[in-house]
Amino acid sequence: MGIAEELGLRVSPGLRVVALTGAGISLESGVPIFRGKGSMWEIPEARRLAERAGPPWNTRETWEYYEWRRGLVSRCKPNRAHYALAEMERYFEDFLLITQNVDGLHAKAGSRRLLELHGSMWRGRCIECGRVIDLPETPLKALPPLCPCGRPLRPDVVQFGEPIDPVVLDAAFKASKKAELFLVIGTSAVVHPAAQMPLIAIEGGARAVEINPNATPLTPFMSLSIRGRAAEVLPRLWEELLSSALG
Ligand code: OAD
Repeated sequence: MGIAEELGLRVSPGLRVVALTGAGISLESGVPIFRGKGSMWEIPEARRLAERAGPPWNTRETWEYYEWRRGLVSRCKPNRAHYALAEMERYFEDFLLITQNVDGLHAKAGSRRLLELHGSMWRGRCIECGRVIDLPETPLKALPPLCPCGRPLRPDVVQFGEPIDPVVLDAAFKASKKAELFLVIGTSAVVHPAAQMPLIAIEGGARAVEINPNATPLTPFMSLSIRGRAAEVLPRLWEELLSSALG
């Protein structure tokens, strides 16, 4: 039996699909994750810089930490999992990619129907005038970078405990509610509200598939859990779903 059949899904361009990604999808691109083996905290320099970063987040110290991360990510390329999601977006008419990642690799792979729940390390935000400024170049010429209003910018990244942009959050919940297929890829599913989205989808009747080498708190609720690395599993899953549509 194929995966689509096992899930009880008829795959067609009209199927409503949502994918939620976390740091695990970028691990094979070379971006460290946050928790467990392969985490950023295994790197002493990251720990040292992160300890000095902090509220109000528009300081030189915060940007030294972010420049370290931006430099690392600038040397990384999207992997086959990022590209598979960009292809899925082109096939499905109603598709949304929700990511917790701030690395920009989904956009680099071509994803456009994309919600960056936790923001992006490639933008700065002014805590005074609210302007959001693209900062695609690393290293930056000056730390902290300045807003056109003259004040220092902070990274446009949602820090732990800070609220998510309500417009972004609303769009993510709405799409989750009406999803028919919900993919959960490379997230430890311990950070809320992202971790609630698959549950909302399941409540609404979606079939949910998790791709992760390890079990997570969401695993018991999944229609299917595939234990493996995203860059290997996701392209295969996508190929299989597509061939079930064509065949
Ligand atoms: P975590 O670091 O918590 O979890 C990464 C997940 O990826 C784990 O469940 C791993 O088992 C899994 N993983 C490891 N290798 C993988 C691979 N090759 N393919 C697929 N999965 C793999 O990262 P997140 O769940 O994204 O928030 O963390 C959520 C949030 O916590 C982050 O967005 C960040 C952090 O605090 C903020 O910065 C606000």
